Amino acid sequence: MANKPVLLTGIQPSGDLHIGNYFGAMKPFVELAQTGGYQTYVMVVDYHALNTVQDSDQMRRRIREIAMAYLAVGLDPNEIILFQQSAVPAHTELAWIFDAITTMPYLMRAHAFKDAEAKNKEISVGTFNYPMLMAADILLYDTTLVPVGKDNKQHIEITRDTAEKFNRIFKEEVFTLPEGHIQSGVEIVPGTDGQKMSKSYGNVIQLFGSHDDLVKAVMSIVTDSSGERPQNVYAIHKLVRSEEELEQMYTEHKGNYKVLKEFLIEDLDRYFAPIRAKHEELKSDDSIVDLVLEAGKREARAVSETKMEQVRRAIGVA
Ligand code: ADP
Ligand code: TRP
Repeated sequence: MANKPVLLTGIQPSGDLHIGNYFGAMKPFVELAQTGGYQTYVMVVDYHALNTVQDSDQMRRRIREIAMAYLAVGLDPNEIILFQQSAVPAHTELAWIFDAITTMPYLMRAHAFKDAEAKNKEISVGTFNYPMLMAADILLYDTTLVPVGKDNKQHIEITRDTAEKFNRIFKEEVFTLPEGHIQSGVEIVPGTDGQKMSKSYGNVIQLFGSHDDLVKAVMSIVTDSSGERPQNVYAIHKLVRSEEELEQMYTEHKGNYKVLKEFLIEDLDRYFAPIRAKHEELKSDDSIVDLVLEAGKREARAVSETKMEQVRRAIGVA
């Protein structure tokens, strides 16, 4: 186990999970983890979420939900290290060290910062700094592979730059350069309005919502009334059914948007049924998640502390 390449991901407990998160981040990740070829780390990045979630009850509830979700989508708790970022102090410590070797103009080129600036938003220092904490998350564990959506590609580049810069300044190969992994075909899952599905756009189909939520979301998918094929419906449909079958279905029911949406509801229900069942099972016994997070914390602390000893020696504080 010790010598396997490291696969790692982090997800923010900052909102209900949607199928964009599932197809863009969780599913590709689980598939890689299930090959058995990796030492796998899954992190609930609660300190990243603190930039937006500033309600303790919500934070607490969502941390558990994310942990449960990862187990529900098929990760084996005996094979992976699942933990809360905040439970492992090395993350914020290393982020500070990266802050010290990174310039403001460099971070000002980050898309997330530029977007916020363009919208005249007053962003928090933590949001500006977000890529440094993410770099720490990844680099502490000698990560080889980080599966992310296209929107996180730049964060991986920043992580690589930061690793290289650190190694160069302190003349030691302390950090391994990670690779991003973007699954082809499902790069950006569209939402009910055709834009990128995102909790901040209110256009999501929830992963663990009720049947009524699902019906409401699918029925609200914006269709172009001039065409015969509702592109926004099709784009989501092809995630859960083969394009050959869809070709036939969409030809047969050409122009009948309501029927096509009903098929989509059925197919989404069927596709997610096993995941939802597992999620319900985990919800009914809280202790499983507690145990998994506790074991993950111990393991992640041990691995990251060894790396931090090397870092502190390299920079000359130890
Ligand atoms: P949101 O956009 O809803 O705020 P996050 O930024 O929390 O979602 O994203 C969590 C993970 O899910 C990231 O890895 C991100 O790349 C992925 N992701 C989010 N939305 C989508 C989408 N519409 N399509 C593909 N991947 C997505
Ligand atoms: N930036 C990721 C997101 O968009 C969250 C994240 C934080 C992450 N640290 C990470 C992803 C480390 C992968 C690896 O939600």
